Amino acid sequence: MKTRMIDPKQMAVKDLHQFILGAVAPRPIAFASTMDKNGVPNLAPYSFFNAFSSNPPVLVFSSNRKVKDNQTKDTLHNIRETGEVVINAVNFSMMRQMALASVEYPANIDEFIKAGLTPMAADLVKPFRVAESPAQMECTVKEVIALGDQGGAGHLIICDVVRIHIHEAVIDEQNRIDPHLMDLVGRMGRAYYVRASGPAVHTVFQPVDQLAMGFDQLPESVRRSPVLTGNELAEIAALTEWPSASALELLSIEPTIAEMLLQEEGYDHLHQLARKAIIAGSVDRAAGILILADPLYHQ
Ligand SMILES: Cc1cc2nc3c(=O)[nH]c(=O)nc-3n(C[C@H](O)[C@H](O)[C@H](O)COP(=O)(O)O)c2cc1C
Repeated sequence: MKTRMIDPKQMAVKDLHQFILGAVAPRPIAFASTMDKNGVPNLAPYSFFNAFSSNPPVLVFSSNRKVKDNQTKDTLHNIRETGEVVINAVNFSMMRQMALASVEYPANIDEFIKAGLTPMAADLVKPFRVAESPAQMECTVKEVIALGDQGGAGHLIICDVVRIHIHEAVIDEQNRIDPHLMDLVGRMGRAYYVRASGPAVHTVFQPVDQLAMGFDQLPESVRRSPVLTGNELAEIAALTEWPSASALELLSIEPTIAEMLLQEEGYDHLHQLARKAIIAGSVDRAAGILILADPLYHQ
């Protein structure tokens, strides 16, 4: 595949920034609520953000120097003054309001008011929680690491989570967050966002403590299937063993399969049949069909 080579040192920062935003995406959004030393609230979204530890619980986000004028941002100033922040998750219903809070209002302007969001007292820190946010994490700042002194340079803000508030409505009966109810949004490049609910959410069950066969155990005829995609082959490679000889025997006498085994075009047809079985969730059956379709199996 043809690739575009980028040397970060040779590209204008504003363009490099967009390539990074497009390539590292979607990113969760920290809706960071801070307060200056005089008690003026501040609220701004930051998508250079993630969780990096659960014990202790640590979140990290980055406030960058502006590319256009190398200025640093109010969130960083407030954090340096007070050492506190509440990181609020951003869901679909507040997405547009969140974007409004990213406007470069002067430091004395309260973005809760500008964006029409509800400030709510936190338990352990001074900055407000965003009442509408389904997950609000009260943090004390452990460390701020400056990554450079030119426009675009980040400041890693390493936060210890001291209290978490989750809307009851998004917690399911297994005491876990239901992503469909949480309905978070992620930021991509430019004006693109992604909504993490409904058909955008996929489940992948991959036990890590059972040794899956892996691609190297797939026969050549399966690995080079003209029908199966990489994801579909991975379903087969994720099995821990092939179906038994007796299971293969039973499959081979099913009328449709028996007929395909006799046809000249049988190999493709059997791979299509295997594909249907994978889509239906019958991966063992698909594996059996693929083995039967393998010319070497019959030698
Ligand atoms: C979804 C979204 C994500 C953003 N992520 C970042 C980020 O990770 N780092 C950053 O410096 N600015 C980011 N920005 C821009 C800031 O929100 C913007 O500069 C804001 O005015 C900063 O506010 P403050 O000066 O009150 O901290 C983001 C903007 C949006 C809309």
